[in-house]
Amino acid sequence: MEVVIVPDATAGGELIADAIAALLRRKPDALLGVATGSTPLPVYEALATQVRSGAVDASRARICQLDEYVGLPADHPESYRSVVLRQVVEPLGLTEGAFMGPDGTAEDVQAACEAYDRALAEAGGVDLQLLGIGTDGHIGFNEPCSSLASRTRIKTLTEQTRVDNARFFEGDIDQVPHHVITQGIGTILEARHLVLLATGAGKADAVAQTVEGPVSALVPASALQLHPHATVVVDEAAASKL
Ligand code: GLP
Repeated sequence: MEVVIVPDATAGGELIADAIAALLRRKPDALLGVATGSTPLPVYEALATQVRSGAVDASRARICQLDEYVGLPADHPESYRSVVLRQVVEPLGLTEGAFMGPDGTAEDVQAACEAYDRALAEAGGVDLQLLGIGTDGHIGFNEPCSSLASRTRIKTLTEQTRVDNARFFEGDIDQVPHHVITQGIGTILEARHLVLLATGAGKADAVAQTVEGPVSALVPASALQLHPHATVVVDEAAASKL
């Protein structure tokens, strides 16, 4: 595992955008796994700036989702489908055809999860998966105690994650869904390159456990230690307990 400490979130965003741009130059139709939350926004902004300036051609890039709420209408502004279309797909000048994600509205959620795992494999696998980290060490929506071999499946959110995410739902925890679909940890580990970005002091404990603690289902992000090509990018505040 490679750990890169950057001065701030903007620098982290630029560093990762450069890595994605380099990948797209090597492989123009790369499949990019993206994460939601506020942390990766500087990455998307920096990458969109490079695309607009002509420094990189992302016109053949493909984008896939990491996770999704169950039961939110697909066009709800906080469904992760809507968020990824708004924050990544549109700013990069791509269309919905370049985008894939799990169906959080499916009647048969288990079948939707299995279909998404198959679709990722049929698309040739994820070339670079960007990850954020929850304050409890979760990646995607793999909450503590998730199996390190897990596949895409339905999960129940912890109270802590629902509290953390209430800010996207007018601060009202009652609006935050209880259930989600998430790529499993085993699914995430199949991406060719994992890049985790963590910024701010609130992530310092989770980062320290991820990087320096034992590999443990209690800290899902610690599974990155098992991956042959994992990069953890942290700002100085998130690195403060390393
Ligand atoms: C959600 C997402 C994760 C994300 C996490 C942290 O739980 N499912 O993918 O990493 O939030 O979000 P933030 O970056 O806003 O702290």
